[in-house]
Amino acid sequence: MKKIVALNLKMNLGYEEALEYVNTIKDKISDTYEVIFFPSAIFLHLFKKSGYQIGSQNVHYENKGAFTGEISPYQLKTSGIDYTIVGHSERRLYFKEDDKLINKKVIGALKNNLKVILCVGETDEERRLKKTALVISNQIERALKNIDSFDLRDVIIAYEPVWAIGSGKTPSKEEIADAIKFIKKIIFQRYDINIRVLYGGSVNKDNIKTIMNIENVDGILVGSSSFNPNYLISMIDIID
Ligand code: 13P
Repeated sequence: MKKIVALNLKMNLGYEEALEYVNTIKDKISDTYEVIFFPSAIFLHLFKKSGYQIGSQNVHYENKGAFTGEISPYQLKTSGIDYTIVGHSERRLYFKEDDKLINKKVIGALKNNLKVILCVGETDEERRLKKTALVISNQIERALKNIDSFDLRDVIIAYEPVWAIGSGKTPSKEEIADAIKFIKKIIFQRYDINIRVLYGGSVNKDNIKTIMNIENVDGILVGSSSFNPNYLISMIDIID
């Protein structure tokens, strides 16, 4: 199975920049990796033309209804979108998404056959208090409530320590390896299946090779280093 390079563009790019971005990346990233772009919803169709896999940064849990401003999993799927991120720490922090809501979103997405990248990770304080394993384990258990092992095949977990996002700081190789091994272990114990786990948080040209080569890492979820398409292409070239 190919390793995943998932690119979370967050709330960036204007229309012209998005057009230029898509033109720049077209045919430039080798197919050694499963590359998935997560642009703002308004650019999903534009990015679809790039030929790479495309996902949404967020999703509602209902298929239809009076939910002004939201995008449903049904709308994504019927628009040819295959992936969605759920539970990103920025959604948890700025939009007060809790584990219960995240669980509903995962269920709604899976019902529509969307593949889900579920983000989990500890804050700086939780890390200092040595609560990383407990936090991750609780987040996973609550986000995956009432989901069976059959549906779990469409779930990828991204380990994104909150303190590493956008900070230029990353955990040590050992910490990443341990967290990912732990996530795989609890999933295997509960569901008897192996799922893929990504690392996310301050991945850049200097550390991409090391991180991609850490044992058990099935790929990366990249934020800032994907905002400039030329930087992104040269960064992926390093691991190609
Ligand atoms: P940075 O790569 O900017 O740290 O962001 C990571 C992230 O939030 C990906 O979802």
